[in-house]
Amino acid sequence: MSSLVGAAVVALVVFQVFRKSLKSGASSLDAIPSVGVPGGLFGFYVGAWNYIKNGRDLTEEGYLKNPGGAFKVAFMHRWLVIVNGQAMIEDLRKAPDDFLSSAEGNNAMLHLEHVLGYEQLHDPYHVPVVRTSLTRNIGICFPSLRTEVVAAFEDLVPAKTDEWITVHAMQTILPVVSRVSNQLFIGLPKCRDPDYIKITTQFALDVAKDALLLHLIPSSLRSLAARLFGHLETSTRNIMKHVGPMIQHRIEMDDKYGPDWPNGDRPNDLISWLLDEARGHPERRTVRNLTHTLLHLNFAAIHTTTQGFLHAFYTLASHPEYVQPLREEIESVTKSEGWTKAAMGKMVKLDSFMKESSRLAPGAAVGVMRKALKDFTFSDGTTVPAGTLIALPILAEHHSQANYTNGGAFDPFRFSRMREEAGEGIKHQMASLTHDFLTFGLGRHACPGRFFAVNEQKLIMAHVLVTYDFKLKDGVSAEDEWVWIVGSANKTAEIMFKKRS
Ligand code: HEM
Repeated sequence: MSSLVGAAVVALVVFQVFRKSLKSGASSLDAIPSVGVPGGLFGFYVGAWNYIKNGRDLTEEGYLKNPGGAFKVAFMHRWLVIVNGQAMIEDLRKAPDDFLSSAEGNNAMLHLEHVLGYEQLHDPYHVPVVRTSLTRNIGICFPSLRTEVVAAFEDLVPAKTDEWITVHAMQTILPVVSRVSNQLFIGLPKCRDPDYIKITTQFALDVAKDALLLHLIPSSLRSLAARLFGHLETSTRNIMKHVGPMIQHRIEMDDKYGPDWPNGDRPNDLISWLLDEARGHPERRTVRNLTHTLLHLNFAAIHTTTQGFLHAFYTLASHPEYVQPLREEIESVTKSEGWTKAAMGKMVKLDSFMKESSRLAPGAAVGVMRKALKDFTFSDGTTVPAGTLIALPILAEHHSQANYTNGGAFDPFRFSRMREEAGEGIKHQMASLTHDFLTFGLGRHACPGRFFAVNEQKLIMAHVLVTYDFKLKDGVSAEDEWVWIVGSANKTAEIMFKKRS
């Protein structure tokens, strides 16, 4: 049976690749140089395989060979055009959505409408909610976020002052981040429920698996395949067991009282902010729709934040010389400010450290995916036809000597030094968007959750620094793991903790 399924999958892959490569052969991208794609009848397939094996290096090669220009790579079953340099990045940033679509770019990568829900792609009203209400409430909700960080570490890293304990880094930080994020999304008690946390952390992995499967399936069969083999339905059902009655109650109360509940009892959380934005839109005010949105935002928030945190944490654990200056800053700021959002804003060395870590490990070699909905011409005259997938080589831009002095080296206080220069304060903060720091994307569709993500990462790091001594188990370095274009923080590393006296 399994060999039959295997044969069917292989046949579908070959069919898909062959069909697309015929199309791509006829495309008008011929003027754009390709990288990693040999000539010949099967050159495209070989190039696609080369890119799966060496996506990071081929992107770097294309970047170095085509400075300030465009190149293309064989990307699964289509061409991906990668553009670089300040002028082309600015073209991409400014392009209106009806020319270069971020939603369709992400959909082409992840099949969002099948793996997250149809309305999540076609009615993304959660984006302004995250950008405005969620972001504005970080300061007000900060005490609960801090309480959750402390409680999560007490549960998951129960270290004492007199002995070292060892924990698995990824399996510890993922639930910490899920608990803290869900404290803001739905609050206690559910944000601490182990089964709820397990579903939220597993969902992102299932999304990635489902998207990969759907890449192998012809578009006409994707909806059926997603229903038969995908995880959205099961995850929705499982999460509804936890939050369904609560969401139903919130909708009913909102219908009855609007935002002004008797005694001012309305929770200040994501569900309320979504309901505010959903007023007058009955299709948004259903348990199912709100559950999908909750799952979607867990998907967007948890693994990204965990990856960024872990990479910085591994760097710190293997460079103990950076611990003291960071601790001094955190202890001095919290002494005068307490544990507040304003205090996080004043931790400029910590911000610099986290940003520098993210500069060298933005999570992927390429990002900021856009799909051309109409033919699009860049300012250097390069034209791509409607249907083309376009991206930026974020890792290569982050390493580039053109953007950064000694760009390949980790310089923890690079950005705090820049911030000291007059008038350059805000520009060099981690949450700021610039053409040479692309971890959070660019333009109108840049990550709306970045202010929360940065505050959360800094809060967790500050807590760890003042609470524990820590080191990598056996001093083994925790290298990133690269697959295709995705670079993940090490998944197997273990960290030893001892409580500071
Ligand atoms: C370190 C953590 C995070 C990283 C590195 C990250 C990165 C990104 C990137 C690269 C994009 C696409 C930007 C573009 O195409 O220009 C994005 C989009 C998005 N992110 Fe984040 N993100 C993080 C955390 C979060 C959090 C905590 C939330 C929610 C609370 C969130 C919600 C979203 C949403 C809703 C979008 C879609 C925006 C749109 O379509 O306009 N992200 N994120």
